[in-house]
Amino acid sequence: MSGTMEDRLAKIFSQTTEAERAEIDRAASFIRAGRLVAIPTETVYGLGANALDAEAVKSIYEAKGRPSDNPLILHVCSMEMADSVVKLNDRARFLMEKFWPGPLSMVLFARGVVPLRTRGGLETAAIRMPDNRLTLELIRASGVPIAAPSANISGRPSPTDAQTVRDDVGGKIAAILDGGECRVGVESTVIDLTGDKVVLLRPGGLAKEDIEAALGLTVALPQDGSNIIKRSPGTRYRHYAPVIPLFVAEQATEELIKGRKWAWMGMSEPPGSPVAKIIFASQSKYARELFRAMRTLEKSGAELIIAEKTDSSRIGRAIMERLTRASGI
Ligand code: TXA
Ligand code: MG
Repeated sequence: MSGTMEDRLAKIFSQTTEAERAEIDRAASFIRAGRLVAIPTETVYGLGANALDAEAVKSIYEAKGRPSDNPLILHVCSMEMADSVVKLNDRARFLMEKFWPGPLSMVLFARGVVPLRTRGGLETAAIRMPDNRLTLELIRASGVPIAAPSANISGRPSPTDAQTVRDDVGGKIAAILDGGECRVGVESTVIDLTGDKVVLLRPGGLAKEDIEAALGLTVALPQDGSNIIKRSPGTRYRHYAPVIPLFVAEQATEELIKGRKWAWMGMSEPPGSPVAKIIFASQSKYARELFRAMRTLEKSGAELIIAEKTDSSRIGRAIMERLTRASGI
């Protein structure tokens, strides 16, 4: 990315129209009143509320049916706002300057203003600046950071368009900002910056390789049984699951299909005859369309979905993580 974070933000903010402004002001009044607003981001849609209002945050958990020990990401629109909720360090400032706004969430020690409910009882909190103009404007107009998990019912594939948000949580929210289809399609990369090592808590829209190149060090993977795993509660739950079984495989084989009707998603053409198939022209399109494809194929009449394995470098790491979780392995 070019320029400073400030330059990038100024350019984004300069594009807002009068009509959008009215819609944003209305949504901001809902946020300040403690209500829920669905927000577009470059990754997936979020279910947003005032991060500093414990009651508002409680209604996020209720609307999603989410376990209350799984902490939320605070979405901010400036360095000052980030600094008001967590204790920034040099690495965090460097990465913000380099990658924000963008799909990178950083876990840092929380300041006292962040309610325990927002951070799932932890001493840390995750922050990110989403790369979406409407949502950045909403945060700015609200004057508070917005806590937002993905706007799906807990366990379901994350929504990447406004209609899917309506399908999942439509009756429970005061407003939806419609920002069209999400560009990245998988959630943000979450890293822990509280220790000496930088640890990858969740692969996502920003490649681990890009963070490593920027910092000039290796980003560690969480080790089973370590404290880090305990500190990333979201990694314990089954996620992103379609209503029919999903298998991750290199090929559609009779051993997997067992005479059932099957659907296929992947980058190559499958052999045989699936009842439905979705072919992605590139890995970034695989990521972008992944969750929508799960929701489409579960309604195709198939009894199972076979998702083609993909190379797990760069964005592929996030794709493979989501597929593995959806398969329940
Ligand atoms: O792209 C995204 O990150 C989307 C959009 C809406 O911004 N949000 C999202 O939120 O995916 P959610 O709640 O579905 O996932 C947040 C992840 C969870 O795995 C959670 O456990 C982890 O971030 N997390 C949040 N705060 C944490 C903390 N203090 N320590 C460790 N992990 C944390
Ligand atoms: Mg989620």
